[in-house]
Amino acid sequence: MTTTPTGAGLQPARKDTWSGQTGFLLAAIGSAIGLGNIWRFPGVAYANGGGAFLVPYLVALVAVGIPMLWLDYSLGHKFRGSPPWALRRLRAQGEFIGWFQVLVCFVILVYYGAVVAWGAQYTIYSVTQAWGDDPLGFFTGEFLRVVDSETFSWEPVAAVAVPLALLWVFVLLIVGRGLSKGVEAANRIFLPLLVVLFLIMVVRALFLPGAIDGLNEFFTPKWESLADPHVWLSAFAQIFFSLSVGFGIMLTYASYLKPKSNLTGTSLVAGFANSSFEILAGIGVFSALGFMAAKQDVALSELEGLTGPILSFVTFPQIISMMPGGAIFGVLFFGSLVLAGVTSLLSLLQVVSGGLQDKFGMSPARAALAFGVPATAVSVALFGTRSGLNTLDIIDTFINNIGVVGSAISMAILAAVAGPRLKGLRAHVNSVSSVKVPPVWDWLIGLAIPLVLAVMAFSAIVGYVVEGYGGYPTTFIGLFGWGAVAFALVAALVLTLIPWRHRPVSAQTLSHLLDSEEDGGARPLPAADPEEADR
Ligand code: ALA
Repeated sequence: MTTTPTGAGLQPARKDTWSGQTGFLLAAIGSAIGLGNIWRFPGVAYANGGGAFLVPYLVALVAVGIPMLWLDYSLGHKFRGSPPWALRRLRAQGEFIGWFQVLVCFVILVYYGAVVAWGAQYTIYSVTQAWGDDPLGFFTGEFLRVVDSETFSWEPVAAVAVPLALLWVFVLLIVGRGLSKGVEAANRIFLPLLVVLFLIMVVRALFLPGAIDGLNEFFTPKWESLADPHVWLSAFAQIFFSLSVGFGIMLTYASYLKPKSNLTGTSLVAGFANSSFEILAGIGVFSALGFMAAKQDVALSELEGLTGPILSFVTFPQIISMMPGGAIFGVLFFGSLVLAGVTSLLSLLQVVSGGLQDKFGMSPARAALAFGVPATAVSVALFGTRSGLNTLDIIDTFINNIGVVGSAISMAILAAVAGPRLKGLRAHVNSVSSVKVPPVWDWLIGLAIPLVLAVMAFSAIVGYVVEGYGGYPTTFIGLFGWGAVAFALVAALVLTLIPWRHRPVSAQTLSHLLDSEEDGGARPLPAADPEEADR
């Protein structure tokens, strides 16, 4: 990367930006729509009151999701850098929170890739319905060769390890090409393709016999569930994971926007597009489940395996085997899962890549190599082996319920007390946006959201300490659950302590920051050396 000094010893920032708002919007929607929409939402909604879940879900979208999106956008766009850089601009200690976000993304992407690799294999298996008449036995036996939940195994499973390694090469090549030539170009192809494939799948599902009963089951509200606090917590957790807010992704993506970009308009489009896709996924999945219940002549509520990996990799194959033209339906369903997963994976990778580029002055290709090699090794070693399914379940639960939530709480509190504070960030967003962020946003981000999230995290932590998780042995929970969170914290500390080699501040950024001095107390201009700036 060029490091020619421009004025006051400052150096050019990334030259790469989104080609325009459309490129950004496609990537932001591509990041939001992921495994969380297709396999997580339908099951979570059904388990938490069916149609009534839409009430807390929409409240969570409007009261938490969109405000947190605005926080991510404001920080990324104002400070034009990855989380460590942007949060460091608020206060020196903020860099640690920024690296923690990067590490949370790193942990998520090593297992997220495994599920995408399963999806790729199942796209091929759908053609011949390789699972035969025992999809559960095939998934846990022949395919994953899962050992019991008390055993850890390094024994590789070629059917997962090989596509997983290939997937890593594929996504790293994309990210290594840089933001506009790699990530944006890929999203321009993958996202429209995903929408088309998924729409065909949903329409097909709607015409299956029994689909209406499935939809009735999905949309019939169980109003009493609204009195249950867990239902509300589930809605908040779903919105966080699904919108990709609070753990560095949207902050990073917004940092590549041009200075004059409509932040609130694009965030509203991204937020509602993601939720529309999510509800569409619920419609498609429950139409298919209604068909399965009708075929088996049982009530849908008697069906098992309506969430997580089992819904996608066991229940869906059962449905595919039962329907006419099942092979095509299977390719559409698993193909959509892969496309949705890849576009989310790219956004997770971009957070790690952006952090390394900013701090160490690496090129995108070098950054991809620097973290891609260890990430591929860890991913294949942990999830391309016989205990991969169990390890994945534990890491996913802990890093989401503690890592993601903890990162969001600390970022919101930091933004409320340091730097230009929320008033300044709001003024920044409003200076470039069509829809204006109202003053109540300061209260939501500074008080209400951290409080709700703290309750969520606290209840999750107490639950894990008292009851453990999923019946796994305590050593597994310690190693992979608490261990994943501890790894993110320790690695974040190490990266924070390494001195900065590169300063991602350009002359253009400087004038941008100067402009926003009017917007309610932006921090003074960064000094040539970030260390100095913080003294
Ligand atoms: N937002 C992404 C998903 O829903 C991470 O899977």
